[in-house]
Formats: sequence, C-alpha cells, structure tokens
Amino acid sequence: MPNLLSMNGLSNEQIMHLLKRAAQFEHGEQASLEGAVVNLFFEPSTRTKMSFEMAEQRLGLSVLPFETAFSSILKGETLYDTVKTMEAIGVKAVIIRHEEEEYYQQLEGCKVAIINGGDGSGQHPTQSLLDIYTIHQEFGRIEGLHVTIVGDIAHSRVAKSNAAALEQLGANVSFVCPAEWSGDYETTDELDSLLGETDVVMMLRVQHERHAVSALFSKERYHKEFGLTEARERKMKKSAIIMHPAPINRGVEIADSLVECERSRIFKQMANGVFVRMAVLEYAMKGRD
Ligand code: CP
Repeated sequence: MPNLLSMNGLSNEQIMHLLKRAAQFEHGEQASLEGAVVNLFFEPSTRTKMSFEMAEQRLGLSVLPFETAFSSILKGETLYDTVKTMEAIGVKAVIIRHEEEEYYQQLEGCKVAIINGGDGSGQHPTQSLLDIYTIHQEFGRIEGLHVTIVGDIAHSRVAKSNAAALEQLGANVSFVCPAEWSGDYETTDELDSLLGETDVVMMLRVQHERHAVSALFSKERYHKEFGLTEARERKMKKSAIIMHPAPINRGVEIADSLVECERSRIFKQMANGVFVRMAVLEYAMKGRD
C-alpha cells in the first residue's frame, strides 16, 4: 500500500477513490482497522492532529501518545531512528508533521506506513484532499470550476498541494498575492477583478513564522489589499463559496464577520477532515502486516 507523502503522486482515480470512501464514512459507514498508530508532530497543529486522532479512534486503532518535548528527539535522536523505533515496537502507521521540506526522503527504507501531515512549505496532502472533498461536495464536480487561491502562496503547502491536484482534476486555478510571495507561480495582485468569475475563494493564512524578514505589510494594509472584506464578498458569484485551511488570522486574511457567514465552508472543511483522514488511514494501512 502506498504512503501518502504528496499530492503529486496521486492519480485522479486514487483521489476519487479516497473522496468516495470519505463520503461513505460521512454517511455512517463503519470500518475497523487493527494495530497501533503514532502521530509524530514536530510543528504545532490543532486541526490536523486532532482530526487524525478522531479518525484513528473511529477506525478502532490504538493511538500511542507522542510528545516531542518528552521524547528522545531532545537527546539528539534522528527522525529516521524515531520512525524505525516505532516500526520496531509494532506501530503500523505514523503521521508526521515536520518543519523540514521533504523530510520523508530520509525515511526511505522504513516499512511503516507514512502519512504526511505537512512538511515545511512543501505539501499537506490530507488538507488538499479535504479541500477537494469539500469543493466536490458543494458542486458535484471539480472539472471546469474556477478556484482562486489568495495569500502567502510561496510559503503555503496548502497552495502547492491544491494547485497541482485541482489542475490535474480539471479546475482552473488562479493565484493572488503580493509579488514577493509568488514563489514559482504566475500570480496577480488583482483580487477584485477575479471575484465575479470565481467559484471557490480559498484564503490562505499569512505564515509569519516562515518569513525570513519581518512582515511586508501591516495587518490593516494586508486586509485592505488582499483580504476578503465584506465589500469583496458582495462581488462574489451567488453560488461561490469561501474556504480557508485555518488557523485564521481574523481581520487579516478574512473579515471576522465572514468566517461563519453563509458562504463560508471553513468549519465544514474541518468536519470533513475526519472523514477524509479515515479514508487515507484505511488506504495506507489496509493490507499491511
Ligand atoms: N489546516 C491545518 O493544517 O491546521 P493545523 O495547523 O491546526 O493542523
């Protein structure tokens, strides 16, 4: 069974299989997996870690606790040796979030299933899958939709995972950000001109912790130039939805009043994360002994 490290290795067929299983879990289907899993989070997380734990519990898995601050990582143990230790004691899958981009390259040869919970500014495949699931749930398709991703593109693993997968599934993806945060993408700073033709407005968190220099913008200026304000929300298509992977800087990327507005699917995304992660765990673990 495959590890899930990046959206780049997933075919459309595999993505649609995971979405179908997630929908079955959402509609009450149960599944039971055997064995123990560990969530190895070396960067902070609320949603990803908690929803993996919820998914693991619903699948009947044993979840072994791991806290970096009380682990032998503090004695200098490498990530490879930590994962090999999990494998040696009988763990079947590890979910890893790590600040190093492509940390998983150093884990080649490990037999335990590896699910990437986010690698630096690299990839966040389960976030992308839950985003695609949420969009598909709304529109019944991905092909032909216009998705506008707004914000800190260069530092965002969510943007990178979604850009590749959404385009592969036939969506038209636009990127809006300050020129300094374009990374490898063709971007514009003209958010207003795209709003009337966009089906999904996906706002990204400004990732202050990944910026080498102090913030380019004050919060007020960023909100005015790139944030989803109430005035911009009024320019959106009637059927368009608002997404954000969260955590949210309220009043910066998005007006506080819009976080839970009718168009917002932000908390729905979080709820969907549990079903999608159940599907991913099943996919990665089934058949492993
Ligand atoms: N969206 C997301 O990855 O949130 P957390 O950092 O809280 O896991």
